[in-house]
This record gives sequence, C-alpha cells and structure tokens, in this order.
Amino acid sequence: MRVTIPRAISLPEPFWFEMSEQFPVVLRPGAFWDPPSRKNAFDLILASKAVSNQLALEANLRNATQLAMSYRQGRLIATATIKCPQGSYRERVSAKSGIDMRGIDAEFGYVAVDEPFRDRRLATILADRLLDDFQAPVFATTGHPAMKKILARKGFTEEGTSWPGGSSDEPVALSLFLRR
Ligand SMILES: CC(C)(COP(=O)(O)OP(=O)(O)OC[C@H]1O[C@@H](n2cnc3c(N)ncnc32)[C@H](O)[C@@H]1OP(=O)(O)O)[C@@H](O)C(=O)NCCC(=O)NCCS
Repeated sequence: MRVTIPRAISLPEPFWFEMSEQFPVVLRPGAFWDPPSRKNAFDLILASKAVSNQLALEANLRNATQLAMSYRQGRLIATATIKCPQGSYRERVSAKSGIDMRGIDAEFGYVAVDEPFRDRRLATILADRLLDDFQAPVFATTGHPAMKKILARKGFTEEGTSWPGGSSDEPVALSLFLRR
C-alpha cells in the first residue's frame, strides 16, 4: 500500500521514515543499473568507508546479483548489495576466519547510508528487501555494531575467529557471518 504524504504537512523526519514502508527502494541486478546510478553507489560506498579495498568495487557492483538503492529527492542516500565475489576473496575470508565456506558463494555487503540519514532504519529496510526472498546460502563480513544487529535479525550467525580490518586510523575487528 502506498502512503502519500501531502506536501503541505510537515512531518518530523523519523516519522516520515517510519511511515515510509514505501520508502523508495529499487532493486535490480548490477548489470541493469545505468552507469551514473552505479557511479552514485560507488561514490557513496567509498565516502562511507564501507570498503577498505576499492580495487574490486566497480566490477563487483557491475556483476552484483542485486543492488538495492534508496533515493530521496533524486539523491542516493543508501545502498546495499548481494554479490558473488571472486573465489580468491572467499578463500581469504575462509582462511582468516577458519571457517569452511565451500558452497557459500553469495555475499551481502557494501551497505552504506549517507551520514545524515543513519540510524533511521534505512540499512534495515535494504537488508529486508534484499534478503527476505534470497534462498541461497550467503555470508557477510563486518565489524560494525549496527550491521551485526541487522545480520542477526536476518538469520545470520557469527562464526569462526575475527581478524583485523579497517584502516590504520580506524582499525576494526571483522567477523564472518553466515546464513546457510
Ligand atoms: C552501518 C550502516 C550501514 C548502518 O545503517 P543505518 O541505516 O544507520 O542502520 P539502521 O538504522 O538500520 O540500524 C540498525 C540497528 O543498529 C543500531 N545502530 C545504528 N547505528 C549504530 C551504531 N553506530 N552503533 C550501534 N548501533 C547502531 C540502530 O539503532 C538499529 O538498532 P534497533 O533496530 O535495535 O533500533 C551505516 O552506519 C553506515 O553506512 N556506516 C558506514 C559504512 C559501513 O560501515 N558499512 C558497513 C560495512 S560492513
């Protein structure tokens, strides 16, 4: 059901977002995003420091199984991805965590919300949209407390040992989460 809020009524932002189960989230395979939209996602992911290594980012976005993007007044404010990263990356994650990840090819990640819009459940909404109908085994790696909450709610369990990640100025202990 769509709820249209008349322009004349001014609502406080959190209320607007809560109302907005219909908050516009667009899902599409990476290859079907026009290059400017993918570039917006690329920029938001980098600006949010959701990745420390940007080398594979562009190719992973293009090849993503699904990208979710949320716009407000034409501006991208949140994005998330299910992708199938290279085997060598999965092997590294497997070695660092000590968990056998054979048969778990899909990764939920590149979750980034523009700073002024954080803590308003946008990442939660994107995770719902991407993961609720996704049947295959999927993994994620994160050290972010909000992501850990979201992943636990979506049926992921933390497995193996954590390993150091992030940047030198913002080090973080990364953990592997699996939904088998
Ligand atoms: C991580 C990130 C995507 C979360 O997005 P978000 O839209 O703010 O998350 P949500 O509002 O859906 O929050 C989910 C839960 O985490 C909590 N939360 C949000 N930010 C938090 C924080 N910094 N520390 C602890 N908990 C936090 C929320 O209160 C909410 O809890 P609740 O549902 O029990 O009320 C966002 O902070 C971000 O873009 N960070 C920078 C990029 C990044 O680190 N991405 C993750 C890469 S793995």
